[in-house]
Amino acid sequence: MIDRSDLGEFTGFLIIALFVLLGFRYGLKAYFKANAKKLDKTSTFYKYLVKVMAWNKTLHPFLGFAAVALILTHSYIQTGWNFFIDNETVTGYITGGLFVSNVIGGVVGDKIMKQPRPKWWIIVHRTMTVLIGISILIHINQ
Ligand code: HEM
Ligand code: HEM
Repeated sequence: MIDRSDLGEFTGFLIIALFVLLGFRYGLKAYFKANAKKLDKTSTFYKYLVKVMAWNKTLHPFLGFAAVALILTHSYIQTGWNFFIDNETVTGYITGGLFVSNVIGGVVGDKIMKQPRPKWWIIVHRTMTVLIGISILIHINQ
């Protein structure tokens, strides 16, 4: 039988899956930059790589929005949005807060700031991604 805590865990792991896909953008871009000259532009691998990068770019904001919806669902299942403070709840709120902030920061950088974005923006966006990762590890190891 599926019970409430299974759903809580499942939604948590779905958020982690979305986080991995969001963070994967860094790996993809870094790989592409490092190997741009070496890659055979006519190879099937290159064609797939370009396709995956285009999809990752298009989906990036939506993965973030889906994660926000899942964070709300997960935190509601886990706590009923009661502020009873135990370690799991505190680390959950911290992780959720960082995550939602980076989504907001992403939208601001993407839709509101003038292009080209200032250099510090990507540094903040990346650093926040690392902090979210650490925060998730702490949260799930409580
Ligand atoms: C934002 C990203 C978040 C991720 C990726 C995440 C992920 C997870 C995962 C995978 C679990 C299951 C851990 C396990 O069974 O060992 C969990 C448990 C939990 N989460 Fe989150 N969570 C997040 C945010 C939140 C938020 C915002 C809250 C709300 C306060 C929250 C509250 C909890 C609680 C209370 C548990 C413990 C449930 C229990 O074992 O009794 N989480 N989380
Ligand atoms: C918590 C959610 C998010 C995470 C973890 C995340 C993570 C990342 C990472 C790792 C990169 C690659 C950085 C680099 O190249 O060094 C990136 C790039 C970027 N993100 Fe996010 N992101 C999130 C949400 C969003 C949202 C919601 C938006 C916009 C609506 C957004 C907009 C961008 C833009 C414009 C770039 C740089 C341009 C590009 O790579 O094409 N991000 N993000």
